Amino acid sequence: MSLPFPILLLLIFSTSSSFFITLAHCKIPRLGISPKMLTNEPDAPTQKLNDPNLKMFYFNQNLDHFTFTPKSYMTFQQRYAIDSKHWAGAKDNAPILAFLGEESSLDSDLSAIGFLRDNGPRLKALLVYIEHRYYGKTMPFGSAEEALKNASTLGYLNAAQALADYAAILLHVKEKYSTKHSPIIVIGGSYGGMLAAWFRLKYPHIALGALASSAPLLYFEDSRPKFGYYYIVTKVIKGTSERCYNMIRKSWKEIDRVAAKPNGLLILSKQFKTCAPLNGSFDIKDFLSTIYAEAVQYNRGPSYSVTNVCNAIDNNPPNRKKGLLDRIFAGAVALLGNQSCYDTNMFAHPTNNNKAWRWQTCSEIVMPVGYDKQDTMFPTTPFNMTSYIEGCKADYGVTPRPHWITTYFGIQDVKLILRKFGSNIIFSNGLADPYSVGGVLEDISDSVVAIKSNNGSHCQDIVMKRKGDPEWLVMQRDKEIKIIESWIATYQKDLRALNISI
Ligand SMILES: *[C@@H]1O[C@H](CO)[C@@H](O)[C@H](O)[C@H]1NC(C)=O
Ligand SMILES: *[C@@H]1O[C@H](CO)[C@@H](O)[C@H](O)[C@H]1NC(C)=O
Ligand SMILES: *[C@@H]1O[C@H](CO)[C@@H](O)[C@H](O)[C@H]1NC(C)=O
Ligand SMILES: *[C@@H]1O[C@H](CO)[C@@H](O)[C@H](O)[C@H]1NC(C)=O
Ligand SMILES: *[C@@H]1O[C@H](CO)[C@@H](O)[C@H](O)[C@H]1NC(C)=O
Repeated sequence: MSLPFPILLLLIFSTSSSFFITLAHCKIPRLGISPKMLTNEPDAPTQKLNDPNLKMFYFNQNLDHFTFTPKSYMTFQQRYAIDSKHWAGAKDNAPILAFLGEESSLDSDLSAIGFLRDNGPRLKALLVYIEHRYYGKTMPFGSAEEALKNASTLGYLNAAQALADYAAILLHVKEKYSTKHSPIIVIGGSYGGMLAAWFRLKYPHIALGALASSAPLLYFEDSRPKFGYYYIVTKVIKGTSERCYNMIRKSWKEIDRVAAKPNGLLILSKQFKTCAPLNGSFDIKDFLSTIYAEAVQYNRGPSYSVTNVCNAIDNNPPNRKKGLLDRIFAGAVALLGNQSCYDTNMFAHPTNNNKAWRWQTCSEIVMPVGYDKQDTMFPTTPFNMTSYIEGCKADYGVTPRPHWITTYFGIQDVKLILRKFGSNIIFSNGLADPYSVGGVLEDISDSVVAIKSNNGSHCQDIVMKRKGDPEWLVMQRDKEIKIIESWIATYQKDLRALNISI
């Protein structure tokens, strides 16, 4: 999606910059399906989708699926969209493709996601897209202001509630279309990809299968990867240009050196044309590191962002005196475009989406992303759970539960457990996506499979098709849909064998 960026930013509320030592440790790079860089609109979709076949609906959803206290009976309006144009109907038990929203508005998902639309005709499928609670127009408590206010209202924002929402809506849709046995395939990307996989595991009676695109569901405490997110950022930039990599690697010290001069911060503010005066070298370092991460995470054709950034950094300027920081600045401009000034907080604005996502990362989605020793393009600053928790406590008065995701979804020992227990899940990953380090990258069984591409970026398989998509991507998408077709065929056979009709 073109994404209201879900950055997990401590910075949003806690402004004490002394909190940070060198580079961000309390920040988890944002998830989300599409890049946001060039269209810095807070919560708005980049483009409103104008598809006459899509109909919007609101479902009267329970605030709390898991208790029966009086408050749990409060309801809210959850938004979803349906495209029934290609659906073959209940009499054929024709399939339903359901997109499970992540931390962004439905509008941005609708304008970014292609997988359903592209395959709807082929499968004669009903297409359903559901917005995640607390995002977009799906706000409990009547308004975003109320919903996002504090832990008392935010407490109902978590993955288990979101999955239960999806279950309720999907059953409602089946009833609405009078189809008891249409198989449902759930699809999601990034955090939404985790939701899709978890949904298949928790609600096998509702979803026949799941496509989990770029889902870093092994990036939690016990199962954190050996090489982290910034390892891939470093690797991809180094692979694109060794020179570019070396300049970035050297730039952090140079920034600190300039910052330490009298008026140093002023010099840096001018150098990087920042909209507000810098309060510390951290401001600019954090900004740059986010730019490199974003460039790598969404590095895809036709114009590869890493190539652009590195070309700008590498190129011999006409003025041969250009220094290291001029080059680094040129790299940022290559990604962000020519602007009158650069907002170093552009990724951290307290938009509704950012506030909601920050809550999620301060409660259960605690992904220990840091700058480790092998991430050599960056100064080493490992993830620090203690300071992470302190920051969250300061903001919400509640303590994150880093073990909850692994307790509830049980993703440690994924190979051991899913081999017997899981089925019909595709984990797709692009190995050039930094989040792939937390993905399932090996086949688990015949029906829990990993699909990888060497060059792929974050969620590239499920976004809208483009002219000029590389051959491997076209083939990858085809492979995915063929697997899904085989699940459906087996299911239809089972229906006939058991003599179950409509
Ligand atoms: C949240 O705000 C409401 C009303 O403004 C207040 O009654 C409640 O105690 C607050 N909860 C927390 C956890 O601060
Ligand atoms: C520096 O601090 C001031 C005051 O808190 C703030 O308005 C400004 O945005 C900060 N500058 C940056 C680059 O964050
Ligand atoms: C960027 O904008 C400035 C001021 O608007 C202009 O002078 C400059 O030529 C532009 N640079 C590029 C590369 O477009
Ligand atoms: C982690 O953060 C805590 C609290 O801010 C600090 O006391 C501790 O020294 C840090 N640990 C490391 C290894 O940096
Ligand atoms: C892989 O990505 C690079 C950019 O990083 C691009 O130049 C190249 O054409 C891509 N290769 C394939 C096979 O898509």
